[in-house]
Amino acid sequence: MEHIHSIEELARWKSKERKKKLGFVPTMGALHDGHLSLVRLSQSKSDQTIVSIYVNPTQFNRTEDLAAYPNTLEADLGALEALGCDAVFLPNAQMLYPDGMKSRSFNFEGLDRYMEGAGRPGHFEGMATVVTRFFELIEPDFAIFGEKDFQQLSIIRQVIAKEEWPVEIVPAAISREADGLAMSSRNMRLLSHEREDAAQIFAVLSSAVTKLNPRETTPKAFEKRCAAALNAIPSIQVEYVSCCDAASLQQVKEFNPARPTRVFAAVQCGKVRLIDNLPLF
Ligand code: PAJ
Repeated sequence: MEHIHSIEELARWKSKERKKKLGFVPTMGALHDGHLSLVRLSQSKSDQTIVSIYVNPTQFNRTEDLAAYPNTLEADLGALEALGCDAVFLPNAQMLYPDGMKSRSFNFEGLDRYMEGAGRPGHFEGMATVVTRFFELIEPDFAIFGEKDFQQLSIIRQVIAKEEWPVEIVPAAISREADGLAMSSRNMRLLSHEREDAAQIFAVLSSAVTKLNPRETTPKAFEKRCAAALNAIPSIQVEYVSCCDAASLQQVKEFNPARPTRVFAAVQCGKVRLIDNLPLF
């Protein structure tokens, strides 16, 4: 696996090694099997896969979260090497932000108004700034984003369409632990009783989804029922449960099984904030 540390090395690798179809997986490191599933998906669809590892300051709106972000670089490189990944790009701030550490401005046409966007001002601008900079430097044929961060995936799709980037955006299903908890680098910060409680998030949501009869209940009643069941779990405090249109991300007022719709949840589990989402129809 090629370790690429500079724009010059990247340009050299592209001109010498680049094969027909290049897949790209952007990450912030601290890799777990959820990230690795994206790499495997890229490998199944491409001739070559490049992964980036960069903890992007502009998408953190709390400096303490940025400072506390886990760094497991040696293990990350070992895991990528073991998978047979072709290249890893390890840029620094100067390469990604030559004009200073600031976000571009975007018009996300409302997609950033809800859920993760409401509580984290500037988060999606920072994310889209770094992702489009990666696209400019790497010029991949496609890039893979996990449905774990469904709003991020939707926003990147909107930016790519609006700015006409020649990159295909490929979604990857959420990877879960055996007990259903969505994989996340934050899970390792859970205390053991919180870890057990966290598994209930998926249990509650998936059982509610299975039982849902869209003709007999409203989204509001469904959200309330899920939130109450989640709040009944000892370590869990619900931030939101929202049923949203999978395209516009707007909260739906009525269920329409003909339209793709998902339920999204964010909770505080002890000191750790967790998110998850599931398709309704
Ligand atoms: P990061 O949180 O490291 O996630 C990298 C990619 O892995 C994202 O596309 C995310 O949705 C995906 N991912 C994480 N956990 C997953 C899981 N359990 N199942 C499936 N996919 C999962 O998201 C970012 O980094 C950053 O915002 C980034 C796009 C790299 C820009 O800085």
